[in-house]
Amino acid sequence: MPKWLDDAVFYEIYPQSFLDTNGDGIGDFEGIIQKLGYIKDLGCNALWLNPCFDSPFMDAGYDVRNYKKTAPRYGTNDDLKRLFAEAHKRGIRVLLDLVPGHTSEEHEWFRQSQKAKPNEYWNRYVWTDQWWKGAKGFGYVAGVAERSSCYVINFFKCQPALNYGFLNVKEPWQLPVDHSDCIATREAMKEVMRFWLDAGCDGFRVDMAGSLVKNDDAQQSGTAAIWRNVREMLDAEYPEAAMVAEWSRPEVSLKAGFHMDFLLSSENPGYQSLLRDYTLTQMNEVSGEDHSFFKKDGNGDITRFLSDYLPLYADGAKNGGHIALITCNHDTVRPRYTLSPQELALAYAVIFTLPGTPFLYYGDEIGMRYLNLPTKEGGYFRTGSRTPMQWNSGKNLGFSTVDASMLYLPVDTSANAPTVEEAEKDSASLLNTIKALLKLRHAEGDLQSKANFEILYAEKDKVPFVYKRGHFVLAVNPSGTAATAAVNSIQGAGKEVFAIGAVTLGNGECRLQAQSFGIWRM
Ligand code: NOJ
Ligand code: CA
Repeated sequence: MPKWLDDAVFYEIYPQSFLDTNGDGIGDFEGIIQKLGYIKDLGCNALWLNPCFDSPFMDAGYDVRNYKKTAPRYGTNDDLKRLFAEAHKRGIRVLLDLVPGHTSEEHEWFRQSQKAKPNEYWNRYVWTDQWWKGAKGFGYVAGVAERSSCYVINFFKCQPALNYGFLNVKEPWQLPVDHSDCIATREAMKEVMRFWLDAGCDGFRVDMAGSLVKNDDAQQSGTAAIWRNVREMLDAEYPEAAMVAEWSRPEVSLKAGFHMDFLLSSENPGYQSLLRDYTLTQMNEVSGEDHSFFKKDGNGDITRFLSDYLPLYADGAKNGGHIALITCNHDTVRPRYTLSPQELALAYAVIFTLPGTPFLYYGDEIGMRYLNLPTKEGGYFRTGSRTPMQWNSGKNLGFSTVDASMLYLPVDTSANAPTVEEAEKDSASLLNTIKALLKLRHAEGDLQSKANFEILYAEKDKVPFVYKRGHFVLAVNPSGTAATAAVNSIQGAGKEVFAIGAVTLGNGECRLQAQSFGIWRM
């Protein structure tokens, strides 16, 4: 585990929406470089950039056309290298998004693979042996290739699955995992990793990390074996590189050599129960009764979260890795859709002080809204969480100088759209609250990823939630009424080091006014 992960706080940037510096209506590398000071000042010391490689952008860049070339709309490979160097000058690490499970249908490997005549890339993707039989049990596309086969997809139609083989071979067209062509796929992906690590990146967030080997067993041992092979390469050649999996199975991913795994909205209902206890309709409207824990009148239940989180936390600790808690990501509805800035401050305070590595999604620090927009670049409902960053009261809220009609996605046009400029002026803003909290986290090892964690009070359908990290006691009351909890194990008063609202701890009792949070040094 690279030491720098102990105190890492990540900031996720969706490059197309961060800052446009050349007036073409879309974000770019130069825009990220110009805002590195802002990111550092906020308290984030690591970045995760969503895919920034050459792509037809049918899935926002998760359809890579060339792994070794940046998307021209963001800048050149040299611009990205400059971004790495500028980030490093400020003590910020940069993770790229590796998409190992599939490519764009426009990738050169796929163009070769779909040809009628066998060639080096014929088995680089998963093809059936008969165009009219399909690929039972998989998503597949028929009727478009020269060769007389269908191809298996990993996600959208434009994302053919790369071929890492099948653990249980059930059809003649399924290659075993040790087939030389499947090994070649793995080696090609290692080459991509070396290419960017040599260029100066600090590791990868790995897209659909669990998706590689098909017909895998319950423990996903086929896919895990590939990642262990990658881990050997990283240990030997790039021991400081960090790896975070999009897998949500730390008992598998961390053993396979990842350092972190995400608690995700799609996989973990417990995580959803903190911020988004609802489903979305086809019109992107909230449906269902919302009992989110951080909703003031939601009457939420922290034990729903804990029953999901605690076993994963234990797996993480056992395997020397971390759970990564997110405020949101590019696939998730921004929490501001249903939560007020006050509710968000309490939620982030907990997310940033639980064990593991936290990830802040750009714009969540100012409470950017979810906009109900039609799909763009394969975003569907996710599009509303991907709108341009809101910097100031200038044109397009400071995102771009282009005419608003030329923006690749609209900015929030509501009169009170939050901006960084406004938030910076208000000492009690969400932004300044986060800054203060992250400053404390960086100063205190006991509030960082690895430090000891213990629950002091967490009861079904009750508030507050009280926990311990090393020498600190922390408590939150998201509800609209005051709450008290007996914490008999706590002797003495403790010194309050951070608070949102009025809170006290003493005589074995913790008292919190409505919507408050506190940290005490014991
Ligand atoms: C997960 C990514 O986060 C998402 O944005 C993408 O659409 C799919 N994987 C497919 O790559
Ligand atoms: Ca631009």
